[in-house]
Amino acid sequence: MQPFVFNTTAQIVCAPGAALDLAAACRRLGIGKPLLVTDPGLVAIGLVAPVVASLAQAGLSPVVFDQVREDPPEETVLAAAELGRAERVDGAIAVGGGSSMDVAKVVAVLLGGEQGLADLYGVDQVTGPRLPLLLVPTTAGTGSEVTPVAVITTGATTKAGISSAWLLPDVAVLDADLTLGLPPAATAMTGVDAMVHAIEAYTSRHKKNPVSDILARQALALLARNIRTAVHDGQNRDARANMLLGACLAGQAFANAPVAAVHALAYPLGGHYHLPHGLTNSLVLPAVMDFNAPVAGELYAELAEIVTGEPVAGGGEARTQALIDAMRQLISDVALPATLQQARVPEGDLEMLAGDAMLQQRLLVNNPRDVTYDDALAIYRAAYWGTA
Ligand SMILES: NC(=O)c1ccc[n+]([C@@H]2O[C@H](COP(=O)([O-])OP(=O)(O)OC[C@H]3O[C@@H](n4cnc5c(N)ncnc54)[C@H](O)[C@@H]3O)[C@@H](O)[C@H]2O)c1
Ligand SMILES: [Fe+2]
Repeated sequence: MQPFVFNTTAQIVCAPGAALDLAAACRRLGIGKPLLVTDPGLVAIGLVAPVVASLAQAGLSPVVFDQVREDPPEETVLAAAELGRAERVDGAIAVGGGSSMDVAKVVAVLLGGEQGLADLYGVDQVTGPRLPLLLVPTTAGTGSEVTPVAVITTGATTKAGISSAWLLPDVAVLDADLTLGLPPAATAMTGVDAMVHAIEAYTSRHKKNPVSDILARQALALLARNIRTAVHDGQNRDARANMLLGACLAGQAFANAPVAAVHALAYPLGGHYHLPHGLTNSLVLPAVMDFNAPVAGELYAELAEIVTGEPVAGGGEARTQALIDAMRQLISDVALPATLQQARVPEGDLEMLAGDAMLQQRLLVNNPRDVTYDDALAIYRAAYWGTA
């Protein structure tokens, strides 16, 4: 067996209503005045006020930063840190999707240590310490509550990652009640993102490991069985709880067996057209799987029945194909666009996108099959037309 290391969040609380009961965890961590990081949409739908009220009722003094933008730019991180510094907060809590959680992670480092934002990018550049940190996801997607990663928008079309064990929070709180109002399209996109995390972790080239494998398989089972219900019947508590747990398990899988070409080819689509992260993954997933199948086919075959939920006849190749077909069908069932053309990506941009994707070597090295510029272009063309 390959030697491996597995890191995850020290405490994961999974209970309906748990977001209204954060005070005890705050006290245990020595937090009296947390910076609560969230976005304006969540404030508008009334998700944040009860959390703030419950903290205040318990005698804490929360300070709210509610200006997180999607795909958060550096200005958002710096503004949140400035508020936290001015208010002398002693901890950070995120209530939100990957955007809010990533901002809170970086702010905890900026306020708890001596480093500036520019010092943090890359792998293991964070020296710590950081402020105590609690993450409460409101989407079932990124798994950021259990990953050592924060993704920040650094330019007009570029994102950069900060990867460090310091970014793992002290506590992740999975409260599915917070996800009941997530609209169908967002549920579909973030859910497929989580499935991509599981699939890419399972085929990750260098750090694939037995713990990530188990988590990826269980994540896929939960996500595949529940995503249609969560999309079409959003108030279904069971489906929502299973999606949130599935996304968290997938997050733990890819935190330790990193994602690859799907994410590498998805990032330029997010950068240039501001398409949501999950949608960009969904748009390139089937074409990347077709491309990977000659090398990763055996592993894909192992996942087929987990996703289809029924016995698949035939040998390895049939199973591999069954998995790819099942993902195409699932993307269609949750009403996401099937092709780059449908998502209004200009055909004339595909060369430029392939060039940008090649810059994502950090991710491409994890792909089971080497990806050249010509390969990336061929994958984008297949994703544009929806051809296998
Ligand atoms: N840190 C990681 O490991 C990691 C992994 C993958 C992606 N990411 C990053 O995460 C970000 C994407 O996060 P995301 O997909 O969770 O979305 P998000 O945080 O960007 O939120 C998207 C939208 O959904 C809304 N929303 C969120 N929860 C809701 C709810 N319960 N009800 C109604 N509306 C709700 C928000 O208000 C927002 O408008 C990107 O910046 C991406 O790069 C990080
Ligand atoms: Fe992702």
